[in-house]
Amino acid sequence: MTEQRKQPWWKNAVVYQIYPRSFQDSNGDGIGDIRGIISRLDYLADLGIDAVWLSPVYRSPQDDNGYDISDYQDIDPMFGTLDDMEELIAKAKEKNIRIIMDLVLNHTSDEHRWFLEAKKSKDNPYHDYYVWRDGVEGEYPNDMRASFGGSAWEWVPELQQYYFHQFSVKQPDLNWENPKVRREIYDMILWWMDKGVGGFRLDVIDQIAKEPDKKITNNGPRLHEFLQEMSRETFQKGDLITVGEAWGANTENAQLYSNPDGSEFSMVFQFEHMMLDQQPGKEKWDLAPLPFVKLKKCMAKWQNELCGKGWNSLFMDNHDLPRIVSHWGDDGKYRVESAKMLSAVFHGMQGTPYIYQGEELGMTNVKFADISHYRDIETLNMYKERVEAGYDPEDVMKSIYAKSRDNARTPMQWSSRENAGFTTGTPWIEINPNYREINAEAEQQDPDSVFSWYRTLVHLRKEYPVFVDGAFELLMEEDEQVFAYVRENDGSRMLVCANFTGTPAACPLLDEWKDGEVLVHNYKADVETELKPYEAVIVRKQK
Ligand code: GLC
Ligand code: CA
Repeated sequence: MTEQRKQPWWKNAVVYQIYPRSFQDSNGDGIGDIRGIISRLDYLADLGIDAVWLSPVYRSPQDDNGYDISDYQDIDPMFGTLDDMEELIAKAKEKNIRIIMDLVLNHTSDEHRWFLEAKKSKDNPYHDYYVWRDGVEGEYPNDMRASFGGSAWEWVPELQQYYFHQFSVKQPDLNWENPKVRREIYDMILWWMDKGVGGFRLDVIDQIAKEPDKKITNNGPRLHEFLQEMSRETFQKGDLITVGEAWGANTENAQLYSNPDGSEFSMVFQFEHMMLDQQPGKEKWDLAPLPFVKLKKCMAKWQNELCGKGWNSLFMDNHDLPRIVSHWGDDGKYRVESAKMLSAVFHGMQGTPYIYQGEELGMTNVKFADISHYRDIETLNMYKERVEAGYDPEDVMKSIYAKSRDNARTPMQWSSRENAGFTTGTPWIEINPNYREINAEAEQQDPDSVFSWYRTLVHLRKEYPVFVDGAFELLMEEDEQVFAYVRENDGSRMLVCANFTGTPAACPLLDEWKDGEVLVHNYKADVETELKPYEAVIVRKQK
């Protein structure tokens, strides 16, 4: 180890995201659960991660797979009990793994006690916990649309009012303007902190301060006031990792979200680099080529503009995104090479890396034969809307193969045995048939596997502080194939160099690094100045 710096612990942490329903089933009902996670803690410790972000396990009708919470202070029976949860927190702690809970605070389920009360009458004390507008049936207050299709307004005949929902009709938006709502939320967060959780991920947090009359959803005027109050009242009373999911973040407001003074969150989880193929005025389903040079510039901008002023999450996929190896890599011939290449590029940057379950195995997108195999509310609603609107169902399936959230939600591939070792029952969503080749059991034993590569990357980050504090410089900016950058601090210079394509790529700058120490390399041959398909290397020079 060359140098030691005092940094908050989460700056050199690596987080692993678990999507509980698809991770490990313990009781044969086909749905992953908390006891299943407990049984896999050794696997997580072997990978070397520091914290687990658990997608929601609270009580929920599961309209949006748990992102519709009906009781924040209970566990859904499908996932287990509060006792199981406490056991998970304790057993993970024994392995130095902290548990990060997913807080969905923009909305609740329509089956939450607050909403059931709110619906009873306009003068019910809970009515003002949600966002209502008077109106006339059939005449929406405005033309705002919900993320999962349809109007953002839902009519309640008993009250002659509409309620506002940015997501499904079963996810009514909370009214953050109401101080009582905020107090309830803070008390709930403190209750979880008391249980020993290690942190929180804040779901669509940039959407809480909405002002629907002005059609404002993200980044409302009072957003940072609310976040600072929440942080003061809760997070700052503990040593937590907090990460705000913000689709509408830019490098300027990210400096507020992740202000090093700790006034809001530890870090921001933003999507600019994941949305580069999104066409203006179109939906994510309208496929377009991936702009590689833009990706580099976007990543470099975030690296440079947040350096010393904020903190970013480094991620390539999660439960809402396609599998990265299918998206930016090659999930056929060069699956292993490209999965390794992509992770080297991301893990070499400044920020906190997030590994989404199965990414460390190089798991791929799935192509189910038809729509009946899909489960995700967003995918199903879109399919229906588009087919009704006259789209060719085959084209719609193409969009689903590329972008459906279910790509990331097929069960974890543990072994080549029946149901990939995920369940003894019938899995809630089918398993990707490639589990016989791609699975944890095989990869853990293979020093050349994607899994072993990730384990190495996780350890490198702990060994070399330059990954955490080094300055960033993008090289070969306009090159259409090579992603190359240098990280540098007082102790070392580190080159990360990668070919993002399936054809050889000239990279003369590697000549200057010939005398450096090769830390990781995804080919067995020597490093040459021409990179092979999806070749990636990290080279270090001591100063
Ligand atoms: C976030 C979650 C996503 C969910 C949505 C609504 O984007 O990651 O899965 O559907 O918020 O809660
Ligand atoms: Ca189960």
